Parts: sequence; structure tokens; C-alpha cells
Amino acid sequence: MSEIKTVGVVGTGVIGASWTALFLAHGKHVLVADPAPDAANTLRAHLESFWPLVEQIGLSSGASLQNYRFVGASLGEHYGEVDYVQENAPERLDLKKKLIAEIDSKTRPEVVIASSSSGIPSSQFVTSCKHPERVLIGHPFHPPHIMPLVEVVGHPGSSENAIATAMQFYTSVDKRPIHIMKETPGHAANRFQAAVMNEAFSLVSHGVLTATDVDACITTSLGPRYALMGPFLSNVSGGGGGKDGFRHLLEHLGPAVQGWLKDMKDKQISYDAETYDKLSESVRKEQEIFDIKEVEKQRDELLVRLLKDKKTASAIV
Ligand SMILES: NC(=O)c1ccc[n+]([C@@H]2O[C@H](COP(=O)([O-])OP(=O)(O)OC[C@H]3O[C@@H](n4cnc5c(N)ncnc54)[C@H](O)[C@@H]3O)[C@@H](O)[C@H]2O)c1
Repeated sequence: MSEIKTVGVVGTGVIGASWTALFLAHGKHVLVADPAPDAANTLRAHLESFWPLVEQIGLSSGASLQNYRFVGASLGEHYGEVDYVQENAPERLDLKKKLIAEIDSKTRPEVVIASSSSGIPSSQFVTSCKHPERVLIGHPFHPPHIMPLVEVVGHPGSSENAIATAMQFYTSVDKRPIHIMKETPGHAANRFQAAVMNEAFSLVSHGVLTATDVDACITTSLGPRYALMGPFLSNVSGGGGGKDGFRHLLEHLGPAVQGWLKDMKDKQISYDAETYDKLSESVRKEQEIFDIKEVEKQRDELLVRLLKDKKTASAIV
């Protein structure tokens, strides 16, 4: 991979601004484009609010909040200067198709074009590209200046070289890329999130738990465990930790889990106004207890501490 010094960030809303902060923290120069009338000011405000946490996470050599330039509605005459593109425009196929075709026609053919898209597979928006092999998804977990995961997903025509470049690039800016080998709706992390949300909604809708207790159930059990050990290693551990621990746990608890899964399927909820009313009522009561702004602030501070501490634990990924 030739060195990536300058990153083009196209679209600087919630995700683009956060990517910009991350790239700056790792010593990159960033050229940013967005057609919104106040985009330059909004970006500046976002970057200034992100920077104290970004500094706490740690800056690479050459990192500076000054190393970005907002260049206007599009990268225009600057396309030739970028070594990597991170696209973060709204989640609309017509828009992504047109925009990715423009980026493809103006950047050097070896430059990887990564889209942050959460749901549109890149095979759907490379149809007008001359060099579709360098287009892929680089999907962050919000907010990318803090959360380590990036899901790299090619389309059937993405080159191995482009995938390898994206994986190396995200690793070099301290992310934890995973390669999703087949285009899959929702990629991976959001599918896990959807499964958990579905069960949370079901338990509240069926009067089993309040929203407050669902949240406590997760933050005091699976949440902290999964921050340190994923579901597979957790099963190895739950099965006694031996060589056959994983298999032992499946054989031991598998039949019971099948029964729970059947019950969960039978109690599948419908996503309609009545369900939303019921859920909203329970969440409103939870919001009377918690000050969300304070929770978010403390969450970010603790997350940064956790992520830093994890780096000192050699056995933990
Ligand atoms: N918000 C999330 O939690 C999240 C997480 C991961 C990925 N994503 C993905 O990131 C992308 C951006 O989402 P977001 O939440 O930042 O949206 P957003 O609405 O906050 O930002 C989109 C930005 O794109 C700009 N834009 C509009 N047309 C454009 C164009 N032609 N060229 C360049 N910029 C243009 C808008 O002015 C806006 O600033 C989406 O594909 C979304 O699926 C979002």
C-alpha cells in the first residue's frame, strides 16, 4: 500500500465530521466537501467538540486540528490530491450512484473509494463506475472517532488489493476492521443490534420487563462481557474453558436455548403504532430517571478509559 497522506471526506454530517476528527488525530491531511450551506461552520463546531476526547484517546505524530480544509460542495479541483476517499453522503441510492460515479471519474484509479453506507450494498452504486474494483464499503460504528469497529465489505467485483488497502488503512488509524466476505443487509454489527433490539421490544411489549430494566439487564451482563470477550470465546469460557469447552456448552445448554428461541419466535412483535406507543410510554418513564445528556457525557468518558485500558491487556482484542 502506498502511503495514504491525504484523505478526501465527502459529506460531513454526523459520520463525516467524526471520520475527519479521527483522520486528523492520526496525522492525516483531510480535504472535506459538503453542499450544505453551513457545512464549514458545522464541521468546525463538531471538530472542536470532538477534539478533547480525541486527544485523550491519543494523537499520532503530526496530528493537528488545523490539517483539514473545507473545499466546498464537492472535492472539485482537489480530487487529484486525495489518496483515499471516505464517502458519507445521505443514505439514498440515487445520490450515492451519482456521487460515487463522480468520485470514480475524477480520482486516480488506484485510490480506494470507501462508502460509510449502513445499508446500501456497493454493488448497487458502482454500476456507472469506470473502476468499480476500487469501490467498497468502509462502515464505521458510530462515532468513528471513538468506536474501533469498521466493517469492510466489497462487492463481487471489488479487488483483493482494494480490500487489503482498506483493511491496512483502517488498522493504521487505530481502528479494528473486519472483512465481511459477502454483501449482507445491515452488514454484521447492526444485525446483532437489530436482534437485541427486537428482543428488548418484545420483552417490554409483552409486559415482562420495563424499558429501565431491559437497559439494566444489558448494561450489567452482556454489555460489559461483550466489551471484553465476544460470543464465541464467552461460550468457550462458559463451557469450562477447556479445548472442547465450546462444544460442551452447546451440547449442555443447546436444547434449552432452542426452546427459548422458539418462544421468542412465537412472541414476535409487529412494528406498528400500537407497539410504538407501548414502548414509548415505558421509555418515557426511564427518561424521567436519567438525564440523557449526562449519561452520554459519562458514557464517552468511560468508553475512552475502557478502550485505553483494553490496549494494555495483552490477551484481549
Ligand atoms: N448516523 C449513523 O449512526 C451512521 C453510522 C454508520 C454509517 N452511517 C452512514 O453514513 C452516511 C452518512 O450518514 P450521516 O448519519 O452522517 O448523515 P447526515 O445526514 O448527518 O450527513 C449527511 C451529509 O451529507 C451531505 N450531503 C448531501 N448531499 C451530498 C453530496 N452530493 N455530496 C456530499 N455530501 C452531501 C449533507 O449535507 C450532510 O451534511 C450514510 O450512508 C449512513 O448510512 C451512519
